[in-house]
Amino acid sequence: MIDLRSDTVTKPTPQMRQAMANAEVGDDVYGEDPTVNLLQERAAELFDKEAALFVPTGSMGNQIAVKLHTKPGQEIIIEERGHIFNFEMGTPSVVSGVMIRPVRSMDGSGMLTWDEVAPALHIDQPYYACPTGLICLENTHNFAGGSVMSADHCAEICEIAHKLGLPVHMDGARIFNASVALNTSVAELTKYCDSVQFCLSKGLGAPAGSMLLGSKDFIEEARVWRKRLGGGMRQVGILAAAGLIALEESPKNLHIDHENAKRLAQGVSNIPGISIDLEKVVTNIVIFDISGTGMETNAICAKLKAQGVLAIGFGKTIRMVTHCDVTGAEIDKTVELLSFLK
Ligand SMILES: Cc1ncc(COP(=O)(O)O)c(C=O)c1O
Repeated sequence: MIDLRSDTVTKPTPQMRQAMANAEVGDDVYGEDPTVNLLQERAAELFDKEAALFVPTGSMGNQIAVKLHTKPGQEIIIEERGHIFNFEMGTPSVVSGVMIRPVRSMDGSGMLTWDEVAPALHIDQPYYACPTGLICLENTHNFAGGSVMSADHCAEICEIAHKLGLPVHMDGARIFNASVALNTSVAELTKYCDSVQFCLSKGLGAPAGSMLLGSKDFIEEARVWRKRLGGGMRQVGILAAAGLIALEESPKNLHIDHENAKRLAQGVSNIPGISIDLEKVVTNIVIFDISGTGMETNAICAKLKAQGVLAIGFGKTIRMVTHCDVTGAEIDKTVELLSFLK
């Protein structure tokens, strides 16, 4: 199968498996797993943040951040296709008692400008308005097609938010893809964010795990919430060992995934009935509109599946994600197989 459903489908590399087998471990709930501690130190160093916490999933990292930054009854602002809003099962309301105020990014990039955020804020409003407690950003933006937010753009949002007393959380599930596309360090891209979550288990290829980063106090409190939510893990250095390799080695290869995404986008753009803006494909996510083909997304995905290619349909669009377990030749094959649309 050529699996383009997501970059979460990647399998650990032989080097990761070796490191997992040899990992030194301890009980991480007691803070005694040396490999987890090393991963946390290394992540904090790379992002130039005071501290980091290994969490089982990106969703847990994001939701702990939402919990710590807000009070029940507040609102969080997020771009309307954001993961925290659409694909984390209402957890902000379940766990944090907050509402989500989704805001549309008018240029389709998924990257909110301050002019778009400002009208959605509830600050210094009558007491019966639901006050804004947090702004959440996403870089890269998954459902805006892997678009990227520059360091300057992020800095501007953070600067104005902070002047208003609002914290900013970055869902950086794929921040290393943004870093490669923009040729800017992850530290620079998230410099002014109060907290950052990034995933080891997506394009970086680790089998599981995400990191939550922030101030020392924030991470101490995050450790409490991780346990409360059932995310206290024991000899989890086995996973952290793979995470360390993901962190050190995988970013070097992400440019290949981006090249493959461009190749895929170019290929599908030549198929009648498919529309895609090639300029917008800058990382590893390719989303194209199939409205003009006269077929439904489900039918196209089923036909592809029967020929050995997996992809996911969302409404009138199909998403294909490139990753380290897909080769250039497999991308060409995928484009070729789509010829049933011609
Ligand atoms: C942008 C973004 N944030 C967060 C997550 C959640 O990560 P996890 O699946 O590890 O909970 C995902 C997962 O696809 C994602 O794409």
